[in-house]
Amino acid sequence: MVELFPAGFAEESRGEAVELVAFTDEAGVRRMEETFGEVGTAAVLSGWEDEWRRFHVPVLVGSLWVGPPWAEPAPGLTPVVIDPGRAFGTGGHATTRLCLELLHELERGSFVDVGCGSGVLAIAAAKLGFGPVVALDLDEAAVEAARRNAALTAVELEVRRLDALAKPVPAADIALANLDLATVMDLAPRLASRHAVTSGYYESEPVTLAGFRHLERRCRDSWAADLFVRE
Ligand SMILES: C[S@@+](CC[C@H](N)C(=O)[O-])C[C@H]1O[C@@H](n2cnc3c(N)ncnc32)[C@H](O)[C@@H]1O
Repeated sequence: MVELFPAGFAEESRGEAVELVAFTDEAGVRRMEETFGEVGTAAVLSGWEDEWRRFHVPVLVGSLWVGPPWAEPAPGLTPVVIDPGRAFGTGGHATTRLCLELLHELERGSFVDVGCGSGVLAIAAAKLGFGPVVALDLDEAAVEAARRNAALTAVELEVRRLDALAKPVPAADIALANLDLATVMDLAPRLASRHAVTSGYYESEPVTLAGFRHLERRCRDSWAADLFVRE
């Protein structure tokens, strides 16, 4: 789906299954049929280009309200305002939520978010009192979105375009990486941090991080997130 619709698609839980939804035209439907075989379609009359916004609904995790600029933050919670644009990360994905849960429990300190996407986790970290916060992504659209969202939420972040598997990752007390399993494991020897929070893989996938000891695993909708401490 990422290759077919790099500008974005939606992911909806349906019991044990996950439904993937793209808002597209007839050419897009043909591309999906060629890739997946059978696809279901439903006509969307007008404004389909903005239909993804319907899926970007606020989520509440601990003390945080994570939601779009067009929603009203819940009273009493700390708002993290995210307009993802073309970057990954509304806050609604299970991996992002699990990372947010683990962040609440960690001792505050300096923080690096490797693969920041929309910046949701880096911005949440800043709001939770971590600092200084550095956010890295190899995708220019993510870097732009993270900077925009930091301004929307009024937090200070250093956002850099960087391939974390090719260039040195800045040292920080806590490194967070919500990527994919292979990238997370390749990244481990490059991290200079006491704690690492990792996600982006399934509950069925065991993770070992070179140089770190496993402390805790959390799971949601078949996805997992892990907390590690330096050995
Ligand atoms: C699954 S998204 C996570 C976004 C956000 N942190 C969240 O939790 O919602 C992963 C992000 O990692 C970025 N990424 C993948 N490989 C990377 C690498 N080697 N270095 C830096 N960023 C990378 C992608 O561009 C993407 O924005």
